[in-house]
Amino acid sequence: MTNRLTIDLRLPQDHLATTLRADVLHGLSAAPRTLPSKWFYDAHGSELFEQITRLPEYYPTRAEQEILTRRAPEIAALTRARTLVELGSGSSRKTRLILDALTTAGTLQRYAPLDVSGSALAEAGEALCLDYPDLRVAATVTDFEQDLALGDEPGPRLLAFLGSTIGNLNPAQRQSFYATLRHALSGDDALLLGADLVKDTDVLVRAYDDGQGVTAAFNKNVLNVLNRELDADFDPAAFDHVAVWNDAEERIEMHLRSRCAQTVKIPAVDLVLDLGAGESLRTEISTKFRREALTAELATGGFTVSHWWTDRAARFALLLAVPTR
Ligand code: SAH
Ligand code: AVI
Repeated sequence: MTNRLTIDLRLPQDHLATTLRADVLHGLSAAPRTLPSKWFYDAHGSELFEQITRLPEYYPTRAEQEILTRRAPEIAALTRARTLVELGSGSSRKTRLILDALTTAGTLQRYAPLDVSGSALAEAGEALCLDYPDLRVAATVTDFEQDLALGDEPGPRLLAFLGSTIGNLNPAQRQSFYATLRHALSGDDALLLGADLVKDTDVLVRAYDDGQGVTAAFNKNVLNVLNRELDADFDPAAFDHVAVWNDAEERIEMHLRSRCAQTVKIPAVDLVLDLGAGESLRTEISTKFRREALTAELATGGFTVSHWWTDRAARFALLLAVPTR
């Protein structure tokens, strides 16, 4: 089994030492204070995200699963992919629907998941090798904003980016991501993109502020990452988890709001944070999309949307796009 699974560690050796430090120094000294959401996903954070996907309030996973259940055979027939590449693959749970359809279509040779979370990739890869005895799983631990890890895999390639992780990037980051993707993909390849849609504000806020407090624990976990990796002295109990709808930007924002005036030391970057009561750190944006604007930004990035599917309640969209000729 194990010789069908490879895990390529492509994050630089000093990733935590340099990238996390730079992100923390730059993000927490700026106004507003921010942290990139990719730092949520240590092993515990990846596990908490899996718990989020099962919460009654967190509809995106079930909505995307509903679309994939209905459309995976059509996606397999349209793309005839020999390699399925997946960015930010996490547990690869929904991906199994695409793997099944491509296996039934008889085209699939390789699955290439990519994630910053080595633990998520190892767990998912081992389970997939057991359940798909003919599949080669070539996993890569890297940051998709720096490195798409595409190479000599057999084409046509289908590049999946599910879960609306695209919404965790701001507009400038999305444009630079599409440009990198466009450069890496050839005319036979296709992009399968999951995107959460604008909807009722209460439904959105509840999805990011659940009754069991799992999303709050996920949000606060980033403070544990900074304590462990940078010797910081954040007290997670001194912060409130806050999820708000930013109407102008059409996005949910997660914040950690200081419950009191406090000083936090982050010795590894020589930073002392003086936080006022009520002052907040923005830890994530989760943009919600509309069809016309998303199609237009993909066009600017060099992709033509060929198919657009939603779940029955039109909460979530899955689109297929091809490099514009
Ligand atoms: N695709 C899965 C998981 C979504 S959670 C789903 O739809 O359920 C987001 C995933 O993207 C996590 O596994 C996280 O580790 C990964 N991720 C976030 N930012 C990343 C980055 N910059 N580079 C690579 N992976 C990233
Ligand atoms: C991974 N990403 C698309 C999730 C989202 O919905 O923005 C992360 C998440 N944050 C809070 N809950 C889930």
